[in-house]
Amino acid sequence: MKTQVAIIGAGPSGLLLGQLLTQAGIDNVILERQTPEYVLGRIRAGVLEQGTVDLLREAGVGTRMDQDGVVHEGIDLAFAGRRVRVDLKALTGGKTVTVYGQTEVTRDLMEARTRSDATSIYHVTDVQIHDITGDAPYLTYESNGERHTLHCDYVAGCDGFHGVSRQTIPAEVLSVYERIYPFGWLGLLSDTPPVHHELIYAHHPNGFSLCSQRSRTRSRYYLQVPLTEKAEDWSDERFWNELKNRLPDHLGDQLVTGPSLEKSIAPLRSFVAEPMQYGRLFLVGDAAHIVPPTGAKGLNLAASDVNTLYRILIKTYRERRTDLLARYSDIALHRVWKAVRFSWSMTSLLHEFPDSDAFSRKIQEVERDYLTSSQAGLTTIAENYVGLPYEAIE
Ligand code: APR
Ligand code: PHB
Repeated sequence: MKTQVAIIGAGPSGLLLGQLLTQAGIDNVILERQTPEYVLGRIRAGVLEQGTVDLLREAGVGTRMDQDGVVHEGIDLAFAGRRVRVDLKALTGGKTVTVYGQTEVTRDLMEARTRSDATSIYHVTDVQIHDITGDAPYLTYESNGERHTLHCDYVAGCDGFHGVSRQTIPAEVLSVYERIYPFGWLGLLSDTPPVHHELIYAHHPNGFSLCSQRSRTRSRYYLQVPLTEKAEDWSDERFWNELKNRLPDHLGDQLVTGPSLEKSIAPLRSFVAEPMQYGRLFLVGDAAHIVPPTGAKGLNLAASDVNTLYRILIKTYRERRTDLLARYSDIALHRVWKAVRFSWSMTSLLHEFPDSDAFSRKIQEVERDYLTSSQAGLTTIAENYVGLPYEAIE
């Protein structure tokens, strides 16, 4: 088989890149390790920056998002028994975010791909990348017990943190920057009305908590927990009691509880691999970088990588501008690092760090106070939360 762009991975990165390329008449094939049902079963964050919303619309998959997504003009930060609203819209000259689950984004992209005649091959194993530094790279993979070959011009490595793409780049070429946080998030999904119409990021001496939502009738809540905890050890009752305990009194009193639809623990990590390109291989999204979820940046960074690579590929195919390909990594990383910084700073600001000393705690406390009582402080949170501008490709 032969294609122009071979895409490894059918998460949001691979599906969105594939959809944009298909629309532009650039042939592409997606190879995915899991089944579509498995991919759709993963519950992930749900806050879309305006740039992500615009790109999804451009990809022709904005209809359901525009119908069911909810525009949020602010978020709340809660700490020391009080609550401060970050007025995203007023502080950024009119920018907002849209709450629409990543699972729904993935579903819309999968449906669009099924409607197009682009090829997606699910349930493949042992994907290998060959001759990536030459002019004629190809992939080999196994499907239905048979070995296959896919020839291509370029490979988009959209295969997430545990994928094969980043591992194909020789270790001496790659620089890796990483921070592993000494806690995780225990998430609970329930068909209960959200405690508040906007998201609340809360600090408490027992740890961080987040009140998020999927719709007016479905809530998503998180609690910071030690990495040693197991989701099975958290009954719904224990979860709700601890969440109530960590919220300011008046909010805890309004919390509507109910049976959980899902409960799971995710570790928190910051990770960046540089460069994001090796020969004709381009890393996109989680394959190149991971951020802790506190800034709601994971999916949005994947979308901005896709935006950059897509626009470069368009110029490459339409105008023979192959010179731009070598700029992908620098352009993408420039924006990636700013989101990595923001996600780290929100995480540092709002979590309890088990090993921190009395001085560090005081600094963290005064930082929460300073940032939320200064217009400049609130503006820096707001402009990062709604998403920094996309980088121009030239
Ligand atoms: N071969 C084929 N497919 C693979 C391989 C492999 N060797 N390894 C991983 N995959 C697939 C995974 O099964 C997954 O479906 O690649 C896909 C990667 O998807 P994601 O992990 O969702 O990564 P990405 O598309 O970059 O999305 C980034 O989604 O994961 C969240 O927090 C992340 O919000 C961020 C966004
Ligand atoms: C979520 O709704 O799952 C969510 C929202 C905002 C975050 C992280 C997760 O920062």
